Amino acid sequence: IQSLLTDTLQRPLRDLRISVTDRCNFRCTYCMPKEVFDKNYPFLNKSQLLTNNEIVRLSKLFAQLGVKKIRITGGEPLLRKNLNEIISGLSRINGIEDIALTTNGTLLPKKAKELKKAGLKRVTVSLDSLDNERFGSINGQGIGVGPVLAGIQAAEEAGLEVKINMMVKKSVNDDEIIKMIEHFSGSGHVLRFIEFMDVGNSNDWSLRQVFAKKDILDLIKRHFTVEVLDQHYFGEVATRFRIKETGDEFGIISSISDAFCSSCTRARLSADGSIYTCLFASQGTSLRNPMRNGESDEMLLDRIKEVWLHRSDQYSEERKNIQPAKKRKIEMSYIGG
Ligand code: GTP
Ligand code: 5AD
Ligand code: SF4
Ligand code: SF4
Repeated sequence: IQSLLTDTLQRPLRDLRISVTDRCNFRCTYCMPKEVFDKNYPFLNKSQLLTNNEIVRLSKLFAQLGVKKIRITGGEPLLRKNLNEIISGLSRINGIEDIALTTNGTLLPKKAKELKKAGLKRVTVSLDSLDNERFGSINGQGIGVGPVLAGIQAAEEAGLEVKINMMVKKSVNDDEIIKMIEHFSGSGHVLRFIEFMDVGNSNDWSLRQVFAKKDILDLIKRHFTVEVLDQHYFGEVATRFRIKETGDEFGIISSISDAFCSSCTRARLSADGSIYTCLFASQGTSLRNPMRNGESDEMLLDRIKEVWLHRSDQYSEERKNIQPAKKRKIEMSYIGG
């Protein structure tokens, strides 16, 4: 039995978040603002992307080092052709207990069934507003709420577990928190409210626009009785709550006001095959290049171990104390959410 691999802060490697494409059919203002991600933006080309087989091969190595949970992200992961081949490859890996996918939902009507058949267990769909006009301006493409709701329904019908992510930005959509709770009440879909984060370099983040965990809770408590729930598992990102009147569960992801780095067990694999040890990292370590140069599984395992053993990231904790003002960060659409 392999001894437990931990980083410099004693955190084990448990989750792998894989970005399968850096492209998206949305241009959310807080993630891929269209002024930056325009037709001149240097998106990755096909030969730079990991192939399906390369993704599965690397995932096997991560599983050998303790990864139990894989999340597929992007960009928009459903834009990737033959994603179901990746999923079915991943679902056959020993030790992988959970495979989930984060999506904007618009392609789920087309793909939910085949993904479920390939072994996907659950999806998390992002939805920041229920108002067509507002949602259209947040996603930068004028796309209404209808296609996302249709995607959620398709996922339900395919038998996938569904969670809903709502990024909350002050004076943009904080007035819809209660409306969202009411809309999804009784659906069984856990709603999660995400504080607006300073990821990437292009979303013009400022603390003034953060609607914090406490604000969210205070608001909800004015309408409902809120009970605190225990964590589902060590290192869970969201803190969990239940509304007493309805039994609905919701979560809050408070990267800004209440950081959760001390239990962060997540590695990220970018679409072009670099490993990143933090969402806010500036630099990754390529696994694709050595792999394409013919390195063996053993050699690649050593590289991953080396990276994890030296890991000391705790960006969200540090942000509280120092102004990390001009740090050059990686874009979230490239590294995966
Ligand atoms: P479950 O597996 O259902 O618990 O989901 P999850 O919360 O791990 O995954 P999801 O992709 O839904 O994460 C929600 C959001 O939380 C992400 O999109 C990010 O915005 C944020 N997030 C996830 N992991 C991290 C992290 O390690 N650090 C920070 N700062 N934010 C994170
Ligand atoms: N702050 C908070 N959440 C974000 N997301 C993307 N960018 C940000 C940001 N700057 C969310 C998306 C999606 C998930 C992958 O991350 O809304 O739900
Ligand atoms: Fe696309 Fe998701 Fe980023 Fe919006 S938040 S631009 S849907 S990857
Ligand atoms: Fe993990 Fe970095 Fe997020 Fe902290 S800021 S929880 S170390 S990914």
